[in-house]
Amino acid sequence: MNKHAELGIAIGNKRFWGKGYGLAAMRAMLNFGFTELHLNKIWLRVEIDNEKAIKSYKRAGYIEEGILRQDRLRNGKFVVV
Ligand SMILES: CC(C)(COP(=O)(O)OP(=O)(O)OC[C@H]1O[C@@H](n2cnc3c(N)ncnc32)[C@H](O)[C@@H]1OP(=O)(O)O)[C@@H](O)C(=O)NCCC(=O)NCCS
Repeated sequence: MNKHAELGIAIGNKRFWGKGYGLAAMRAMLNFGFTELHLNKIWLRVEIDNEKAIKSYKRAGYIEEGILRQDRLRNGKFVVV
């Protein structure tokens, strides 16, 4: 209704991380969302210490809008902030 969508991405096999596949898949999804679905905004959440993912998202054009404090429970503990 508001022309925005949240997406998530994960490459299951670690052997294929850091080879450019995530960015390529992300660009394909962004292209689909903006040109086919005519979305105004595509957003995602990422754990604050996931530096590799954040780097990849910034390359894809994402900008940080804010920090959700204690948004994720990981191994029984809230991820910092
Ligand atoms: C987050 C995730 C999807 C990012 O995908 P990715 O494929 O690892 O990341 P990118 O596509 O941005 O790859 C970037 C790296 O590939 C390199 N690369 C780009 N094109 C390349 C090519 N053709 N050949 C080889 N390497 C290449 C880049 O130089 C870069 O390396 P650097 O980080 O050392 O500078 C992936 O790491 C992942 O699934 N992680 C686990 C799950 C996760 O954390 N998901 C996010 C939850 S929010």
